[in-house]
Amino acid sequence: MPIVSRRDFLERSAALAAAGFVPRLPDALYDTPSPVTDAPVRARPCIVSSSNGIRGVKVAYDRIVGGEDPLDAVIAGVNIQELDPDDQSVGVGGFPNEEGVVQLDASCMHGPTKRAGSVAAIEDIATPSLVAKAVMDYTDHVMLVGAGAKKFAKAMGFKEQNLLTEKTRQDWLRWKARLNANDAWLDHDEDVRIKFSTGTINMNAVTATGDLASVTTTSGMAWKIPGRIGDSPIIGAGQYCDNLVGAAGSTGRGEANIKTCASFLIVEFMRQGLAPEAACLKVLERVVAMTETRLLNANGRPKFDLEFYAVAKDGRFGGATLYSGGRFAVCDEKGPRLEEAAFLYRR
Ligand code: GLY
Repeated sequence: MPIVSRRDFLERSAALAAAGFVPRLPDALYDTPSPVTDAPVRARPCIVSSSNGIRGVKVAYDRIVGGEDPLDAVIAGVNIQELDPDDQSVGVGGFPNEEGVVQLDASCMHGPTKRAGSVAAIEDIATPSLVAKAVMDYTDHVMLVGAGAKKFAKAMGFKEQNLLTEKTRQDWLRWKARLNANDAWLDHDEDVRIKFSTGTINMNAVTATGDLASVTTTSGMAWKIPGRIGDSPIIGAGQYCDNLVGAAGSTGRGEANIKTCASFLIVEFMRQGLAPEAACLKVLERVVAMTETRLLNANGRPKFDLEFYAVAKDGRFGGATLYSGGRFAVCDEKGPRLEEAAFLYRR
């Protein structure tokens, strides 16, 4: 194909546009075509999740090998944590915002049908993952927030309930008691805002025919400003899924994740040929490069942690964290287990 200069291209496009044609980039300017196809493949069915999904990965795995839809399977997996009052990172019993109100975020993607749904800052509904799926299934939208999300959930038949357990309320009161009257949001050095930000559950599935799905659900950062939305409900940050390539998701400091569109980027690196673990590590490097100085320690390393989980269309999987010691949950033909996550820095 002859090389087209930018000027030639612009001039030609202008002439075509004047003649009523929609200009199109010459093929030479497109990226190399992806080697992947949409045809059914033989894959190793597998579920990958954050470590708190150790019970859920088995539930989800049994469902996908029984022929159930991969998104329904992973949502059933994360529902266990959403409904568990002892998991303070998600759903019932999740940490509240600074006013003591539990506000939940969740999103999901369904690979085979290329659809997504999301809710953010939703109150009084225990299973935001299911509300996110209802947004996907029953509306022309992808994302609903706050009062509108709750109104929609109630219209869909979700039950309103108090999500603040007594245990979590006591933790909130202890946090509040430590505040000084003139504290500002950025006054902290190493504090509970960062320490408590590692909750959330992400879960990803690949079926025996290579169909993919992903879901992430959370109560978000503890003691957040009311209305703060983390990465979990943001498609491409908290989770992402492309049925041609793979699925990925995240737990940890959402603010760091949003700035790098991390789950989308992990899937893109897998599309370029990286294995799931390598793709997660490469995106963690990007996170470090994008971290503002106030969040770096004396060694230039982030003061927070962030965890990534990924599965490829053929069933390969991986997980990686900024700091050593992280684990993630997996279930495949070998059964449910926790695996060591790869890491950038030794603690
Ligand atoms: N990753 C959960 C959050 O930051 O809200």
